[in-house]
Amino acid sequence: MFTHDTLQGRVALITGGGSGIGLEIATTYARLGASVMLAGRNEERLQAAAQSITQAGGAAAVCKTDVRNYDEVKHTIETTVDRFGSLDILVNNAAGNFICPTAGLTPNGWRTVIDIDLNGTFYGCHAAYPHLKASTHGGCIISIITMLGVSGWPGAAHAASAKAGILALSRTLAVEWGGDGIRVNTISPGPIGDTEGVKRMYIDSGLGELEEKKTALGRFGRKQDIANAAVYLASDLGAYVTGDNLIVDGGRWLKYVAQ
Ligand code: NAP
Ligand code: COA
Repeated sequence: MFTHDTLQGRVALITGGGSGIGLEIATTYARLGASVMLAGRNEERLQAAAQSITQAGGAAAVCKTDVRNYDEVKHTIETTVDRFGSLDILVNNAAGNFICPTAGLTPNGWRTVIDIDLNGTFYGCHAAYPHLKASTHGGCIISIITMLGVSGWPGAAHAASAKAGILALSRTLAVEWGGDGIRVNTISPGPIGDTEGVKRMYIDSGLGELEEKKTALGRFGRKQDIANAAVYLASDLGAYVTGDNLIVDGGRWLKYVAQ
């Protein structure tokens, strides 16, 4: 679909790049010519992911990172620049989530998800800024959110609030940093099959089939659908796109509103 050099010469840092949607984005970016740094807490899983990318001919490295820790995030960004020479694309994909009605959610449960999703995204954007500003391709930030952050998400108030915060942060930075040549966008995936997110939210509670029916297309999306959107936004194809929230959800959002 994309030519093999669509992201040639670019360097991307993908948080949560060791699994699921993040790994699919990293693998696709590497196939299209980018060098990728994978960040997450589970080093073994990160190493295995990087190995699968390098075995396929891509350039990949890993940096163990807890995105809740600003110093670790900053260190990972500096390691990326030392290793690959620049940082052109930041993908804030790392997230934590669990179903818990709000009345039973502890303050630490709330804080944990806000810390990973919202604070982790802010830390990444903040620490990456000077490097993205220096990018010869024009810097690019993509954060993975969900339209459930816009509609509200009964049973996951922490994640809904964090994702809504990321949307507001991204739109703010699109304006603040547009003059620095940095584009800032979000992607809102719908339910994507074969992911930890869908397992936790729907499969484990027996709601998988119902969730598929809630999409206009009547099925789960593929990780590749999200990776394709992330290529578009990161490449020259999306050179005039900033402050956007690209919805890749099989019509889940519209059907939710309509019914
Ligand atoms: P996943 O495989 O569980 O991905 C989450 C990643 O975040 C993991 O690789 C995890 O790695 C990393 N992570 C979690 N806490 C972290 C921390 N404190 N520091 C650094 N990394 C951390 O789940 P996924 O379903 O692919 O979700 C990926 C993204 O898509 C998330 O932002 C999610 O909200 C979004 N999304 C998913 C769906 C879906 O249908 N799956 C729908 C809408 C939005 P470690 O455990 O190694 O840290
Ligand atoms: N229901 C209610 N509360 C829960 C919970 C659940 N299913 N899972 C965790 N919590 C609470 C814990 O009880 C704790 O609060 P407490 O100290 O008041 O008891 C708090 O959340 C932190 O839990 P802990 O297990 O210490 O956090 P962690 O930092 O080890 O892990 C999570 C973070 C909880 C988000 C974990 O699920 C995770 O690592 N997720 C990453 C993968 C993921 O969520 N993927 C889907 C992305 S959409």
